[in-house]
Amino acid sequence: MADGNGDLSLYRRLLGYVVPHTLVFVVSIVGFVVYSIGNVLLADLLQFLLDSLGEDTPGSIGIVESAVNALWPRQDQTPLEYARVAVPIAAVTLALGRALGYFVGNYFMNIVARSVIHTLRTQLFDVFLSVPKAYYDQHSTGSLVSKLTFNVEQVSGAASDALKIMLREGLTVIALVSYMLYLNWRLSLIFFLVAPAIGMVVAVVGKHFRRYSRRIQDSMGSVTQVSQETLGAFESIRSYGAVQQQSDRFEAASLFNRNQSLKLALVQAISTPIIQTLLALALGALFWFALDPSILAGFSAGSLVAFITAAAQIGKPIRTLSGVQSVIQRGLAAAEDVFQQMDTAPEPDKGSLTLTRARGDVAFRNVSFSYPGSSKLAIDDMSLHIKAGETVAFVGRSGSGKSTLVQLLQRFHEPSEGSIALDGHDISHYQMASYRKQIGVVSQSIELFSDTVRHNIAFGLLADSTDEAIDQACQRAHANIFINELPEGLDTLLGDDGAGLSGGQRQRLAIARAFLKDAPVLILDEATSALDTESEAQVQLALDAVTEQRTTLVIAHRLSTIEKADRVVVLDEGRIVAEGHHRELLEQDGLYAKLYRQGLGDLH
Ligand SMILES: Nc1ncnc2c1ncn2[C@@H]1O[C@H](COP(=O)(O)OP(=O)(O)OP(=O)(O)O)[C@@H](O)[C@H]1O
Ligand SMILES: [Mg+2]
Repeated sequence: MADGNGDLSLYRRLLGYVVPHTLVFVVSIVGFVVYSIGNVLLADLLQFLLDSLGEDTPGSIGIVESAVNALWPRQDQTPLEYARVAVPIAAVTLALGRALGYFVGNYFMNIVARSVIHTLRTQLFDVFLSVPKAYYDQHSTGSLVSKLTFNVEQVSGAASDALKIMLREGLTVIALVSYMLYLNWRLSLIFFLVAPAIGMVVAVVGKHFRRYSRRIQDSMGSVTQVSQETLGAFESIRSYGAVQQQSDRFEAASLFNRNQSLKLALVQAISTPIIQTLLALALGALFWFALDPSILAGFSAGSLVAFITAAAQIGKPIRTLSGVQSVIQRGLAAAEDVFQQMDTAPEPDKGSLTLTRARGDVAFRNVSFSYPGSSKLAIDDMSLHIKAGETVAFVGRSGSGKSTLVQLLQRFHEPSEGSIALDGHDISHYQMASYRKQIGVVSQSIELFSDTVRHNIAFGLLADSTDEAIDQACQRAHANIFINELPEGLDTLLGDDGAGLSGGQRQRLAIARAFLKDAPVLILDEATSALDTESEAQVQLALDAVTEQRTTLVIAHRLSTIEKADRVVVLDEGRIVAEGHHRELLEQDGLYAKLYRQGLGDLH
């Protein structure tokens, strides 16, 4: 059912996932072989039955009959008496064998398929955990979720149902055809005349299936994306009256999905009757030739019935096979996409140096950076030395490059030119995990998880912190008072993304995290949204405490932060245009003074 040579490597790669389950796979195939042979032998049994009715001894005897004869030779019974006992026993035995084959084949194939899906899904998830930040800039979260859920599940369809059906029905076809060839090979050749026509239909239809399947997949990505965005932004949607707009967006995404699915269904609905008609033609020709007196002479009544039964039986498995093609093509299209994501290179981590605790001396040397696909330099030939323990405030207009700068320091991107050094070594020379331990971050958008307050603070590598350390971090972050007021204190479960906490409380949790991490370098992205005075004062106290004794890079919005900073660096269009203390900069009456006069709200 391939539609090109490129598929070969796809099959091979998919098959690679089956290899660890070879034994179970083989058992399953044996099950299906038993099942399909059981099917043929049940047709063969008819010959035994019918031939026992006639008085004359038939020219040939069937497979089942010979087997029964060998196991339990006929003695003085008439053929009818003999058959009366042997046929029911043989029928029940064959049916039981076939049933057992069916069970083993199906269930064991499911074991293989489900294990493959589990492996694929966890591997894909781990890939998402290791890809560079640029990957997330290019894909919406919704589309990634859809890849993990929908696409992987599509592969499972191909791997379980389709593989099962292919084996079961494919083997049945092979068994039936072999049986017919064995009974009368010349007559059976008629089937081979229509085979190329069927093959062509299957190939053409397969191509269409694949194309529509890709589109269905993409459309599922859009559906997930719109749902996720909408459900996550329900407050803005209500207050800005965007209900209708979002509803229309969702409808468009869902409609596209419906249309593509219908096109796929149309192709499927057309192809099955075409294949059936081709088979009917073959069957018609078969009857015409079979009833030819010269051919008839070669058959006993029983073997003729068995032959025709087998020929008539072949239609069903072929129909099922052609029907399952859409599932296979969907699975292959999904596998293509899943593998493509898996081939994304992980975040570069080639460094070998390790650090226990850095001093915190940070130097940018002629750093330039532009985002992938953008010709504009977000950071333009920037040089800056920050001494250990120094606090530097970055100010500049929106889009001037402040966030990009601190992302480069966190190694979320690599500078296009120049280098960044920590304690005199290029940061790319450090092992990533060891390097990131040196940097604490309190960002504007605080990411919380639906877990307890304790686990939200003692997060990741901090998970085995002692209760004492956690308590101390909370105290220093001025978070202990509100945490103690929560119903279960530190063990209170937070809702999705920390629902149930105020903005100021979230910030203090983030600061507690940073205290616990106790990294020598701290990146602080001050929130622009105003907090109420009391909350603001608490956060400020916490921030003052956390920046002590650390090299701090702060994207500053508050005058108080800027005044306290050892140095203010003014950025514009990715360049440093001025630096110095707040007072000095005001006296220079440059961009900084202008920004200052425009009010702190604009000091992004
Ligand atoms: N993911 C991205 N892909 C492409 N360009 C980006 C991306 N992020 C930022 N930019 C561009 O890089 C430049 C610097 O952006 P950056 O986010 O560093 O500014 P900023 O100073 O932090 O602004 P703000 O104060 O508004 O947060 C801008 O021109 C912005 O459009
Ligand atoms: Mg920013």
